[in-house]
Amino acid sequence: MHLLGIETSCDETAAAVVSEASDARHPWRIRSNVVASQIDLHREWGGVVPELASRQHLRDICGVVERSLSEAGIGLGGLGAVAVTQGPGLIGSLLVGVAFGKALALSLGVPVVPVHHLAGHIESLFLHHGPLPLPAMILVVSGGHTSLYLVPKVGDYRLVGRTRDDAAGEAYDKVAKLLGLGYPGGPVLDRMAQQGRDDAIPFPIARMTHPDRNVAPAVATPAGFGKMLEGRSDFSFSGLKTAVRRYVQKRLAELGEPDGLDGLGPGDTPATLPHAEMADVCASFQRVVVETLLDRTFEAARWFGAISVGIAGGVAANSRLRADGQARGAHAGLPVYFPPLDLSTDNAAMIAAAGLRRLRQGAIGRLDLNAQATLPMPSPGHDPVSAGERDGRTGAP
Ligand code: KG4
Ligand code: ZN
Repeated sequence: MHLLGIETSCDETAAAVVSEASDARHPWRIRSNVVASQIDLHREWGGVVPELASRQHLRDICGVVERSLSEAGIGLGGLGAVAVTQGPGLIGSLLVGVAFGKALALSLGVPVVPVHHLAGHIESLFLHHGPLPLPAMILVVSGGHTSLYLVPKVGDYRLVGRTRDDAAGEAYDKVAKLLGLGYPGGPVLDRMAQQGRDDAIPFPIARMTHPDRNVAPAVATPAGFGKMLEGRSDFSFSGLKTAVRRYVQKRLAELGEPDGLDGLGPGDTPATLPHAEMADVCASFQRVVVETLLDRTFEAARWFGAISVGIAGGVAANSRLRADGQARGAHAGLPVYFPPLDLSTDNAAMIAAAGLRRLRQGAIGRLDLNAQATLPMPSPGHDPVSAGERDGRTGAP
């Protein structure tokens, strides 16, 4: 079975062909993985502009899908199914992929499989490494999400922690912006941090001691701990971002530099600190983010009895997170898995892999399948697609 995956949830138009193989240790094979990035388009605005993103997806999607098929050496007739990101993401961007995926599946007479974007990030680990030792504690850390999932068995993802405000990648992007490092901030801040001292500035580490009062608890707590650990696996990064901002404002004032940080608009360049000091800010910020992510992930792994740890999503490309994550794993006696760099940031191979998983679970979308900006993660106990839509196959024979 060859499956075409389509991903358009944010600012990358991506298509990939992934095939099933008979090797149990590596059941999926990537035949092509094409990504058209919109970074250059959004750079001058300092972030993703949703309307521009959806228009660019429209321009790019046909060419990206054609290229993924030709690189895979597979014609349209060779496809057994089409998987597409249904959400979460920018609604205008998602709609392009969902409409394209449904139309293609219908015209070919094959099933269309809706995929949750974060399930895709989780499956990027299984796609590259084969089956992970289970139960696994998996951190998905990207520009839009910082979520911890317990995976007790393949295809079963249980939310045990999430950010209460900014995602870690978002904090990287916002801090990079206020330092004038450009967009997207993660990779450039990561490089800059390597030149600085990580203990130069004692930025605060946020610890959660109570459940989130604003949101109903959708997260699982470990059995046997009662309410004691409720909310303890959550994250918060907006306080750190504000601390960096205050620090930079204070230093600019001390240096007699104009502080252009308030009302910073697209294309504005904020006043910058001397290079060495900027590197210290980056290194100190990065230390706090990485420590927070790893503390919470390894604590949750212990509480839930996980025997492996996975870290996926765009921020999993971070050099310090990779190095410190491996060191923590060695210390805790847990194997730690990261996807390769091209499967860390948004791509369609991970969507195709999650699509194959869901297809084998019987989850097939109907023709009225729609994009959903805030799609909840389906769970085997409560899965709207596999529960109610099995007999409404999209053009399935
Ligand atoms: O998964 P992804 O490609 O898109 C979303 O689903 O959000 O993640 C993009 C995020 C951006 O915030 C970007 O700044 C961050 O990942 N990122 C990094 C690094 N590379 C990408 N953050 C820290 N260090 C990096 N090396
Ligand atoms: Zn993503």
